[in-house]
Amino acid sequence: MALISASILNGDLAHLADVAETVRRSGADALHYDVMDGCFVDNLSFGLPVLERLRPCTKLPIDVHLMIQDPLRFVERFIRAGADLLSFHIESSSDPAQTLRAVQQSGIPAGIAVSPDTPLTLLQPLLPLLRPEDFVLLMTVQPGLGGQSFIPGVLPKIRRLREMFADAGITAHIEVDGGINEITSAQCREAGADYLVAGSYLLGSASPAEAVRLLRGL
Ligand code: DX5
Ligand code: ZN
Repeated sequence: MALISASILNGDLAHLADVAETVRRSGADALHYDVMDGCFVDNLSFGLPVLERLRPCTKLPIDVHLMIQDPLRFVERFIRAGADLLSFHIESSSDPAQTLRAVQQSGIPAGIAVSPDTPLTLLQPLLPLLRPEDFVLLMTVQPGLGGQSFIPGVLPKIRRLREMFADAGITAHIEVDGGINEITSAQCREAGADYLVAGSYLLGSASPAEAVRLLRGL
């Protein structure tokens, strides 16, 4: 069954604890926390102090997605602030293997995020480093904003990555992020994704629990 991570980016940011409670009641598996630095992406969101405040408000795992330049600088600090999973972009890392190892050594699942226009060939040398609990996050929109439309051209990339995993005997997860709803989630699951991030679809639903059920394809 696909895991669901609820992105709070388009939630009511003045009442984050309430958003976290809505996510818990929806039955989602994790809370997706998007960090933007105005440099790697043309937007700013929230960072360490907000994560520290949010951490005690929920027992849900917090799935931190760093959309920042030079993420290695911040790995330790985000883990200390409460990240339970941590992904960073391959495009913004001067040494993705070292960054991956830094997350792994802290004992939490590590994710390598890949923007829609970035070829999978860049990932190839990193694949042998992935443990079963780690993941590749394939962006299905351009990083920077919630509420965008899914880019269908990423579907073949999900399939190809699943094949690359199979060829290399890797059982890590494939997370997809951006424009995920009841239709695109089915397409992504069929293509091989097993971890779905959903923001505006889930939090905008009259019944977030029903939205989670549909996202899982149940
Ligand atoms: C985009 C973020 C996504 C986004 C998802 O830069 O990484 O996590 O918040 O939101 P929706 O589901 O609304 O596209
Ligand atoms: Zn994200």
